[in-house]
Amino acid sequence: MLATELRKRYIDFFVKKHNHKEISGASLIPENDPTVLFTTAGMHPLVPFLMGETHPQGKRLVNVQKCLRTDDIDEVGDSTHLTFFEMLGNWSLGDYFKKQAIEWSYEFLTSPLEEGGLGLDPANLTVSCFEGDDDAPRDEEAAKVWESLGFKRVEKGEPLHGGLIYFYNKKENWWGPAGQTGPCGPDTEIFLDSGKEKCPGCDELGVSCDCGKWVEIWNNVFMQYNKNKDRTYTPLAQQNVDTGFGLERVTALMQGVSTHYETELFSEAIKKILELAGGKNPNDFIVSQRIIADHLRAAVFILGDPFGVAPSNTDQGYVLRRLIRRAIRYGKKMGIESAFTTEIAKIYIDLYKNIYPELEKFKDKILAELEKEEAQFSKTLVQGEREFEKMLPNLMKSAQKIVPGRLAFKLYDTYGFPIEMTEELAAEHDFKVDKEGYDKAYKKHQEQSRAGAQQKFSGGLADHSKQTTKLHTATHLLHQALRNVLGNHVEQKGSNITVERLRFDFTHPEKVTPEQLKEVEDIVNEQIQRGLDV
Ligand code: SER
Repeated sequence: MLATELRKRYIDFFVKKHNHKEISGASLIPENDPTVLFTTAGMHPLVPFLMGETHPQGKRLVNVQKCLRTDDIDEVGDSTHLTFFEMLGNWSLGDYFKKQAIEWSYEFLTSPLEEGGLGLDPANLTVSCFEGDDDAPRDEEAAKVWESLGFKRVEKGEPLHGGLIYFYNKKENWWGPAGQTGPCGPDTEIFLDSGKEKCPGCDELGVSCDCGKWVEIWNNVFMQYNKNKDRTYTPLAQQNVDTGFGLERVTALMQGVSTHYETELFSEAIKKILELAGGKNPNDFIVSQRIIADHLRAAVFILGDPFGVAPSNTDQGYVLRRLIRRAIRYGKKMGIESAFTTEIAKIYIDLYKNIYPELEKFKDKILAELEKEEAQFSKTLVQGEREFEKMLPNLMKSAQKIVPGRLAFKLYDTYGFPIEMTEELAAEHDFKVDKEGYDKAYKKHQEQSRAGAQQKFSGGLADHSKQTTKLHTATHLLHQALRNVLGNHVEQKGSNITVERLRFDFTHPEKVTPEQLKEVEDIVNEQIQRGLDV
């Protein structure tokens, strides 16, 4: 089953069988959420509606959402972690709750292929529920639904197998609010047996064992609480369901391959990477080829987003720069000498353009930015090497043969020279790098920039009151009016909306004239006066 079909089956199941409306996914770069740099889960763009705002499409929604997570960027290259991924989700905004959400997940997974399901054997499924703590009780309601479907609570000492219900704490079975406060609640997760051998820890840990034998494929979150500023939890007036189903992961499991890199979502890119590296054996440089394939796919989606950013040294642009440079570095490791990022990008644009037309629309920009960044990084590498050579005579004076961490960090911070490159150069001269010192300097820098980012991003929507919501709508009108008057290059760079006023940051190379402002104002007012439905 190809990913295209899996997407379609999921959407059709909820639209045709269970009366959901399909909504389009939101941009990868959050429009009005100051708490995150990227959309990290399908629930992000829907927060206002989870909090009670009326969604124009109704209370039962289904979608595919582009997501990006960089917390585990160093794990990419193993068989499960990805930075960019697609999340399928069905949503209840104060409509159905635990019973239907669980029953429908089960129905989709186990009903026969010819009836629109995935035809999975129930004996290969096992689940987990929230065990309860001081903030919220044990999720008996969810467990009972699973029992009604034939699942049994795991007994103490019982080995891991299909058909069980495990109970875990918040770490495993709770979806926290995206920011510090917001909608949250217990979840129930569904795991599928990958067919791999059990590891020695499986029986003791149950499905929380991450050896890859049992893979989480579906998360049903019951958003029934709001986490307050004082860290207390209050029941939400509206009980919601937020589900997440990882497309790449399930595609791989459905195809019986051991990683998503072996599916059609990555195979062309990987083939090209091996070819560019001079016909390498696919079994060599496994981690490098995966990192390149993952990072460049993520970079294509960031650059090709409607709110796309360019590589830079701050915020989203910094993450993008890091992804591209990391891919190039691993390319060099594999022996790719010439510029290659656009070759791989073209493969992804072709692969995804039907689902994400924005990639085709911004194709020129994606390719131009990659080319520019790759050229600039090559210069950085030359410059970094030169600086390192300059440091050498001094370093030679010490008998210890150690490059101090602060010097390695300086090369990184000032010239963008990656620590791994410094280590390689050091090794050529029989030196070691003080990695601990480097990490310390790096951490200090990160803390400083995080503090800065928090201040900078104290924008967004102050609350979800009617007035604030109206001003939020006005922000969209303003954005379009600016584009009409100043041109399509106008891009939102931030916004801050309170009950009293809105603020909108945007890019434009010149000072906006009073006449232009008047024109923008007139367009916005004209549209408001039309009293259109939102
Ligand atoms: N918010 C949950 C997740 O991202 C379910 O969609 O896993």
